[in-house]
Amino acid sequence: MSQPPHVLLSAAVSLDGFLDDTGPERLLLSNAADFDRVDEVRAASDAILVGAGTLRADNPRLLVNSPARRAARVAAGLPEYPLKVTVTASGDLDPAARFWHTGGAKAVYTTDSGAARVRGLNLPADVVPVGPELDWRAVLDHLGTVRGVQRLMVEGGGRIHTQLLRQGLADELQLAVAPLFVGEAAAPRMFGTGPYPGGPRSRLRLLESRPVGDVVLLRYAPTVPGTGERVSAADRHWLALACELAAECPPSRTAFSVGAVVVADDGTELARGHSREAGDPVVHAEEAALAKLDPADPRLAGATVYSSLEPCARRASRPAPCARLILDAGVRRVVTAWREPDTFVAGADGSGLLAAAGADVVVLPEYEERATAPNRHLLGR
Ligand SMILES: NC(=O)c1ccc[n+]([C@@H]2O[C@H](COP(=O)([O-])OP(=O)(O)OC[C@H]3O[C@@H](n4cnc5c(N)ncnc54)[C@H](OP(=O)(O)O)[C@@H]3O)[C@@H](O)[C@H]2O)c1
Repeated sequence: MSQPPHVLLSAAVSLDGFLDDTGPERLLLSNAADFDRVDEVRAASDAILVGAGTLRADNPRLLVNSPARRAARVAAGLPEYPLKVTVTASGDLDPAARFWHTGGAKAVYTTDSGAARVRGLNLPADVVPVGPELDWRAVLDHLGTVRGVQRLMVEGGGRIHTQLLRQGLADELQLAVAPLFVGEAAAPRMFGTGPYPGGPRSRLRLLESRPVGDVVLLRYAPTVPGTGERVSAADRHWLALACELAAECPPSRTAFSVGAVVVADDGTELARGHSREAGDPVVHAEEAALAKLDPADPRLAGATVYSSLEPCARRASRPAPCARLILDAGVRRVVTAWREPDTFVAGADGSGLLAAAGADVVVLPEYEERATAPNRHLLGR
């Protein structure tokens, strides 16, 4: 099952949040040990993307420099170098730039009008127009489905990082914080000003912090759910967590094992639950999670419920099915991995019940295998 690539935003930043200074030479923010760490991350990526602004400013090669890492890629059946990708609307690209004449395959994503100009440059690269505007979801979809990219490393610049983060498309940020100040208002920043998903209350999840010589590597993951049918990278994280919770259920021959997480619109986890939790033999995952919350909690109205199996529409064990409990709690967005099969209830359609009441239901079938894994004994699989 194809899914969009895992998108990693990577950059070195000064203590005051800049990616570069305004001088003609590229400012070296990182150190040798950190450049080697970046080389390792590149080697583990299927593609490396930079904006046309970075090509014009830095004239980078974007190679895997270590011969051992290149050899390991080849031994694993991968191309020696990751695919190199750039995006441009203007088509203002220098055909003599090092990007085009080093490494392996290259691709340029552009607008319909930009494609004519880019094609006229006869670059050694595939030119992919994605519509009148550059739609990032279309770019990622093309990279995943057509180019088979599973791990995309984005190495700037600031405008690219800002768009991907704002649109909820970044799975991870890796910042190498360098011990220096740039202090120039006109220098490029890692992230521009303007609204970010979840607003300033929203906190990312810290995955790791570690010194690399005199720089500090910070790894973060965004947490903010998508909106409506629009899926964010964090939606996948929360649904994967719901699937992990499903695996913690006491086994049963008469009921599914399901996990659920309730997340506020700023990315705060409000509650989690799983089937048959805390010795209750009939409690459902969504019911267990919602029972931990004050029904008057104002965050419920903007929250998303992640459930490994779609919320039930009918049940014998308790008066209200989970789809009804979710609606009564005021939640209007549900993300699930697996539609309920006819195992216990024929024609169960919790998603239909939710949708009829105005809730958005998003099904991510690429997680179905994880959701069904603790239920295989019920499915004859
Ligand atoms: N410290 C680090 O780790 C690091 C890493 C990378 C870059 N940098 C620095 O970052 C600076 C460059 O950053 P930047 O923000 O100016 O440029 P950038 O983000 O690399 O590229 C911006 C360009 O990408 C294209 N683009 C971006 N979004 C687009 C969209 N939605 N549709 C179509 N095209 C789009 C446009 O190209 P066109 O103008 O051609 O249409 C736009 O001008 C440089 O100073 C560089 O040194 C630092």
